[in-house]
Amino acid sequence: MVTCSAPGKMILFGEHAVVFGKPALALAIDLRITSTVESSDQYSVNGHPMKKRHHAYISAALDEAWGGPPINIDTISEIPSGSGLGSSAAVTVSCVAAMMARRGEVEPEKVALKSFLVENKVQGRASPTDTSTSTHGQGVIVSPDKMDNFLWHVEQGQRSWNIHHCSVPQLHFVVGYTGIHAATGPLVAGVKELVDSSVDAAKAVDRIGEIVLEGVDALARSDKMKLGKLMNENHMLLNGLEVGHPELERLIEACRSDSYGAKLTGAGGGGSMIALTDNVSEVAKAIREAGGKPIVVDVGVEGVRVEDLGGSRKR
Ligand code: PMV
Repeated sequence: MVTCSAPGKMILFGEHAVVFGKPALALAIDLRITSTVESSDQYSVNGHPMKKRHHAYISAALDEAWGGPPINIDTISEIPSGSGLGSSAAVTVSCVAAMMARRGEVEPEKVALKSFLVENKVQGRASPTDTSTSTHGQGVIVSPDKMDNFLWHVEQGQRSWNIHHCSVPQLHFVVGYTGIHAATGPLVAGVKELVDSSVDAAKAVDRIGEIVLEGVDALARSDKMKLGKLMNENHMLLNGLEVGHPELERLIEACRSDSYGAKLTGAGGGGSMIALTDNVSEVAKAIREAGGKPIVVDVGVEGVRVEDLGGSRKR
């Protein structure tokens, strides 16, 4: 029996544009998914026979990282699914790591690459942002150009991404979950259609790429005012890409007066927003009163880790 856990993430800047090869900046958050792999008489998930349709990520992870005899995979999640907080990445990374650990090899870069291939296959189109952040933890910058703190590189079709480590200063974020489950694949496909047919949408993608680089600089200086401004602008551009939702607007408006800035995070279409603030309890209250679920998160936490290599399991 092998148990691994992996964190969810919040995208601070650059979601959607990163799928077009632009940069993105994501931070690991202290909500984790724990996966345990053990021998079984059939391929199963949480004791139920594995079905490709129901267990898309886990079954794709099996194809990518296992190839051995039947196993059962148990998962325990702290991350709401379809919330924009990287639950699919964390389940994929924790499963891939547990499968690889079971075969005696858990190299983070291999886990991150295999996990990206799984997400790309299941979603039809993906960037390595979520899976790299869940694997490496702390902060991750994904960019077409090589930067400082380079980790590894991946190419997919005409797109190419360099993955970098990014240090994360002490900052306070509150997540507001709308409770609306939104699947990433169709949202990503919708943005592609828009960008292919609209010059303004293509320009928005370019500007988001610039915002990310300005954001990386502001994060290094812990410049909360600048970070907040960039978050607001990034959010406006995401609305232009038609991945917003009235519930997200309601939560963001509710946080405005107590935040440096706020934006949707992840795929959008529902899911979650994030606010950067010095006043966590006021912002959490505002989100709750506006009908959302506030989650106060720690950012820049540890990435994938082996919890148990065969002895007693930590739960
Ligand atoms: O909502 P999530 O956690 O699936 O994040 C999706 C992020 C996108 O940029 C929209 C897609 C991607 O693969 O990077």
